[in-house]
Amino acid sequence: MLFAILASTGLLASTAMAASLTQVPNYNNNATSKAQMYVYKPDNVVENPPLVVVIHSCQSSAQAYFQNSAIPWRQGSDKKGYITVWPSSPNSGTCWDVSSKRSLTHLGGGDSQAIANMILYAISEYKVDPERVYVTGGSSGAMMSNVLAATYPELIKAVSLYSGVAAGCFVSSSGGVDQWNNTCSGGQSRATPEKWKQVVLDMYPGYEGPRPKMQIWHGSADSTLAPQNYQEEIKQWTAVFNVSQEPTSSVQNYPKQGYTTNNFGDFVQGIYAQGVGHSVPSNLTASEIWFGL
Ligand SMILES: *[C@@H]1O[C@H](CO)[C@@H](O)[C@H](O)[C@H]1NC(C)=O
Ligand SMILES: *[C@@H]1O[C@H](CO)[C@@H](O)[C@H](O)[C@H]1NC(C)=O
Ligand SMILES: *[C@@H]1O[C@H](CO)[C@@H](O)[C@H](O)[C@H]1NC(C)=O
Ligand SMILES: *[C@@H]1O[C@H](CO)[C@@H](O)[C@H](O)[C@H]1NC(C)=O
Repeated sequence: MLFAILASTGLLASTAMAASLTQVPNYNNNATSKAQMYVYKPDNVVENPPLVVVIHSCQSSAQAYFQNSAIPWRQGSDKKGYITVWPSSPNSGTCWDVSSKRSLTHLGGGDSQAIANMILYAISEYKVDPERVYVTGGSSGAMMSNVLAATYPELIKAVSLYSGVAAGCFVSSSGGVDQWNNTCSGGQSRATPEKWKQVVLDMYPGYEGPRPKMQIWHGSADSTLAPQNYQEEIKQWTAVFNVSQEPTSSVQNYPKQGYTTNNFGDFVQGIYAQGVGHSVPSNLTASEIWFGL
């Protein structure tokens, strides 16, 4: 009965043919990490499409994040014709490994390298414009966004991350993979801008090329990743870009009531959400503007 109605209205055919999230079993991954790759190619992909890599939080997965109505990137992809890649964590609890040396090092073999391989695969197989590769993520995905910006700066144009911690803040002193770090999550991992910058430089020694511009969102009432982590991220990326920790401009109540947008030159932007907990909801429009989409 339902089938007949759907078929007669043509709904069935269009639903069956509509774009969907698809696993890419072999993406030429040469990392030790066995992170899985999923891709969403909308029906109307533009020529030499931009790519947004959307990185899930703990206890989630590529499929769950894709289906989460609070995660707006599928809609953005449908509307604008860019491709999205959805990495899925191989670790138990599905947090990303942002603690081991191998993930915190360029070509170190960890989860970060697996995601870099997904980007390279998308460039070669889907004709993605290598100059328009963007990364976003929430919570653990935001931590990984910072780590990717530090370990694979040559692949990424811009990052928009929601409620993370500075690259290297979750480092495990014993080198453990995918370890929680209470010192960092509690906001006790504090360092000078120069120290945080050195942490980034050490993840890819000798790299002197361009780096992705960073948009960093955090809530003032975050009890999972203390708000101090916002300050540490700002210190880190302003230092990397050789700019002051004093904003060049601040806009109150933007992009929303209670939020403050702080610009630190053209390459670092912080958006601090007063009264918002973990994690700050994604704002598709604001992230797309940051990416130039
Ligand atoms: C893995 O792939 C990357 C990207 O193609 C390449 O630069 C690197 O040399 C490869 N590493 C190994 C160990 O094969
Ligand atoms: C947690 O991270 C900090 C840096 O943010 C590091 O100094 C510390 O050793 C880490 N703790 C553990 C238990 O690995
Ligand atoms: C910051 O300054 C250093 C030293 O002059 C330079 O090597 C580096 O490229 C600059 N970083 C950026 C992102 O412009
Ligand atoms: C998202 O950001 C845009 C500006 O980039 C703003 O106009 C819009 O109101 C914001 N939406 C929400 C829900 O905060």
